[in-house]
Amino acid sequence: MIGRLNHVAIAVPDLEAASAQYRNALGANVGAPQDEPDHGVTVVFIELPNTKIELLYPLGEGSPIQGFLDKNPAGGIHHVCYEVDDINAASEKLVAEGARVLGAPKIGAHGKPVIFLHPKDFNGCLIELEQV
Ligand code: CO
Repeated sequence: MIGRLNHVAIAVPDLEAASAQYRNALGANVGAPQDEPDHGVTVVFIELPNTKIELLYPLGEGSPIQGFLDKNPAGGIHHVCYEVDDINAASEKLVAEGARVLGAPKIGAHGKPVIFLHPKDFNGCLIELEQV
């Protein structure tokens, strides 16, 4: 059911410093910061030849990224995103398999519908599925 790895998301304590590090030290193609108020994050996308990295920084009160950074002050891998053809079919299948799907499909940072799967059901890893 899942297809390509769409991105790996990394929560960062300093978005400018992290962007500069990927641009300069790692020589990556780093995009401009985008605010995603529906998700409580500011994101920077980094285009790699085979996937993307999504740097996440808290936006607004009660951002889920703030909670993550409180527990992981140096930052860390927050989620991985896999591509699916049909988000509703994927969601129904996962519910039938007993996985916890966190909420209804929402429009994600790329303007496509996404869902998140509970990390406790997937080896401690938060999974995002994106319809492509
Ligand atoms: Co993501």
